[in-house]
Amino acid sequence: MRARPATADDADAFARVVAAVADENRWIATEPPVDVAARAALARDWLQRGDRLWVLEDDDGRVVGCLGLHELGARGVVSLGMSIVADARGRGGGRALMDAAMAWLSDSEMHKVELEVWPDNERAIGLYERYGFEVEGLRRDHYRRRDGSLRSSLIMARLLSGPQSRPGAGT
Ligand SMILES: CC(C)(COP(=O)(O)OP(=O)(O)OC[C@H]1O[C@@H](n2cnc3c(N)ncnc32)[C@H](O)[C@@H]1OP(=O)(O)O)[C@@H](O)C(=O)NCCC(=O)NCCS
Repeated sequence: MRARPATADDADAFARVVAAVADENRWIATEPPVDVAARAALARDWLQRGDRLWVLEDDDGRVVGCLGLHELGARGVVSLGMSIVADARGRGGGRALMDAAMAWLSDSEMHKVELEVWPDNERAIGLYERYGFEVEGLRRDHYRRRDGSLRSSLIMARLLSGPQSRPGAGT
């Protein structure tokens, strides 16, 4: 398995990964059914505005996972989202995607990376902790699902020590 930066040509595959994981209705905030064409267009928009996306390729070249970094609100803070299809999990793909994203972040102007995760997603939380993310808070009953249920999420984040915090940066 290998992670590589996504291009516009990967947008459809990227969208299919998100659609497949959303169909499980268990791990990510996106609810099924995902409109794959619309999601692919969104991925192309993200790339065009400079968001960083990676795809995970299985050994046969099939795209089985994706990771995105999005600057949404506060300057210098990126939000991370990632998904791997069910039959490709637990084989180091999560680590491959995180290695790629963290390597890019360590050399970026970003000072912080954050994410949200369902509190019962032990595998994802374990992966994030391994990369130095810490829990910053709990958003209690924050998300209303289509079935009317309310879900809490954990906010996790990691401060970065890239070029922006090295002596002399910005001078
Ligand atoms: C979360 C996800 C990206 C992890 O990817 P993965 O390929 O399954 O994980 P990896 O094989 O790379 O394992 C990476 C690390 O995760 C952690 N991990 C894996 N399984 C775990 C488990 N059952 N419990 C706790 N931590 C676990 C470990 O730290 C592991 O490292 P190690 O194997 O060296 O100990 C993947 O399972 C996934 O896409 N799940 C569904 C979608 C999702 O939950 N996305 C995140 C939403 S916030």
